[in-house]
Amino acid sequence: MSASPSAIQSILTENRVFPPSQEMVKAARVSGMEGYHALCAEADKDFEGFWARLAREHLVWSKPFTRTLDSSEAPFYKWFDDGELNASANCLDRHMGTPVEHKTAIIFEADDGSVTKVTYRELLDRVSQFANALKAHGIQKGDRVLVYMPMTIEGVVAMQACARLGVTHSVVFGGFSAKSLQERIVDAGAVAVITANYQMRGGKEMALKAIVDDAIAMGGCETIRNVFVYERTSSACPMTAGRDKTFAQAMAGQSTDCPPVPVNAEHPLYILYTSGSTGKPKGVQHSTGGYLLQSKMTMLWSFDIQPDDVFWCTADIGWVTGHTYVAYGPLAAGATEIVFEGIPTYPDAGRFWQMIERHKCTVFYTAPTAIRSLIKAAESNEAAHPKQSDLSSLRILGSVGEPINPEAWMWYYRNVGNEHCPIIDTYWQTETGSHMINPLPGATPLVPGSCALPLPGIYPAIVDETGNEMPDGTGGMLVYKKPWPSMIRTIWGDPERFKKTYFPEEVKGYYLAGDGAVRAKDNGYIRVTGRIDDVLNVSGHRMGTMEIESALVAKTDLVAEAAVVGRPDDLTGEAICAFVVLKRPVPVGDEAKQIAKELRDWVAKEIGPIAKPKDIRFGENLPKTRSGKIMRRLLRTLAKGEKITQDTSTLENPAILDQLSQNN
Ligand code: WT7
Repeated sequence: MSASPSAIQSILTENRVFPPSQEMVKAARVSGMEGYHALCAEADKDFEGFWARLAREHLVWSKPFTRTLDSSEAPFYKWFDDGELNASANCLDRHMGTPVEHKTAIIFEADDGSVTKVTYRELLDRVSQFANALKAHGIQKGDRVLVYMPMTIEGVVAMQACARLGVTHSVVFGGFSAKSLQERIVDAGAVAVITANYQMRGGKEMALKAIVDDAIAMGGCETIRNVFVYERTSSACPMTAGRDKTFAQAMAGQSTDCPPVPVNAEHPLYILYTSGSTGKPKGVQHSTGGYLLQSKMTMLWSFDIQPDDVFWCTADIGWVTGHTYVAYGPLAAGATEIVFEGIPTYPDAGRFWQMIERHKCTVFYTAPTAIRSLIKAAESNEAAHPKQSDLSSLRILGSVGEPINPEAWMWYYRNVGNEHCPIIDTYWQTETGSHMINPLPGATPLVPGSCALPLPGIYPAIVDETGNEMPDGTGGMLVYKKPWPSMIRTIWGDPERFKKTYFPEEVKGYYLAGDGAVRAKDNGYIRVTGRIDDVLNVSGHRMGTMEIESALVAKTDLVAEAAVVGRPDDLTGEAICAFVVLKRPVPVGDEAKQIAKELRDWVAKEIGPIAKPKDIRFGENLPKTRSGKIMRRLLRTLAKGEKITQDTSTLENPAILDQLSQNN
């Protein structure tokens, strides 16, 4: 679970309510609870008619659909599947000839503070020119292309150019290792990689292209024909003749006119890998039509995007939040958005607040883990406090990625929102594609730490292990009883795993989110309490415990066995704690420290620095039942530094608990 018992308790007893201001209710697109209920009632009355109306009103179709939902092969649901459209045309071309054409699409602020702006017209030209470059290399509809790019305008251009050609992109976060990259190239069968020579973070130049070379050299990447390299900095990087091209080389002589390729609504727009409770990361496959529809609708509903808004989602394009709320949603909605290359603490921890002032940001969307670290920074350094910046342009704040504790919520509300910006706590997942449960800024009264109510057309329920609904006020597993347009279509290359993971028969074929939740008796508000599987949430990033365990035991010269659990952490939400049995005597003192460091570096190489265990504890063995099953709940207690009060009578080796309670 993501929160400590005391944190959950403080959320459960939270009873402050913040209704929307009259001003906000009057001006908002969804106005008041009447507005929200009217949309919900429309969906209740005619579920398919509701989504069909929105899809016709909000997307441009090159071939209109006549069928809304096809459930004949459930859970492989299809939406609008006899219609055709293009995602890039819906984000760019559709604005041409409207007032949006010459509006700023992206305000890019680089790590060093320099600012570049592009209009929708300019963005369309760049996307088209790069799409022509891909086309000239034989890349076409149905191909997969891997994107390993820093936060830049070119990162968005790469994704949009793929979409323009009907090429399925798979973006890999720049913090993942060569090995992770190689696994994703192989799994996706990618024909090309789009990357940059380096990325700039916190004043440091970090290699990206060299990691791509390492990944390809690991083997199995014979499908890769080209590597396109954006020259983010002037430093040279290794280039393989024939295979590698800089952006400048690839785009030279290419026209800025590239007709968008119409694709079926179900055509895979992208694959995004995410961690599950077992085995390797899963390639979550998203559609074109349904995905784009809800990306846009949630921009309009959750953030009430208006023509003058300056929207800023701080997420990296390597995560789903950066797909839906950087690369697609804001552009489909015709908004001006900020794209930020750097990190929140460079050159100082006031960077976010200074940027909000500089660009007159109106809607700001970030993660609780960032807020918590900026609270800490502001407390120790006056200069990093939000009050040093003029934040009066802000009108709406958003939160995403993990439960936000009421203390952080209140600080965000007071110090950033000046007590007049609603906080939209958005609960969703890589698999859901877009927001599922959150308040609406001009309608829903806010309760700190609660995601409030489902969006119109979304049908969550809280059930027990057999799929029966729990009474309100009693916790259970969160499921969705009906499909929705932006839902995951399958796991790339593994439809069986898709069915088993998300639509288990035990819960009546409902979509199983993997989170626990409680619905309040009085107002029906949903509070998400955290994962109910072996998935950790570290700084809003999903990490599978099994994945980290596999990485540890892959160090075969040293590690015999490993078990990974989470423990609550004030800053990162959860922290990774590894219990390790070595192929040598249990180390102590400096030796233990040195081996722990070696193992952390190893995990960083195997997966990426975000997967490094914070705590590593060594023992001669792990606590096991007589049948050899590792008792993880005991490890979780030890990880928290608490005394074991559980029954340990079924344990084969109770003495091991003492040894494992020592921290290294
Ligand atoms: C998991 C999904 C959704 C984009 C970023 C993460 C947790 C996400 C919230 C929230 C409580 C949340 C859940 C979920 N989560 N948002 N507002 N309140 N928990 O996407 O990597 O697919 O992770 O993040 O546990 O299942 P993801």
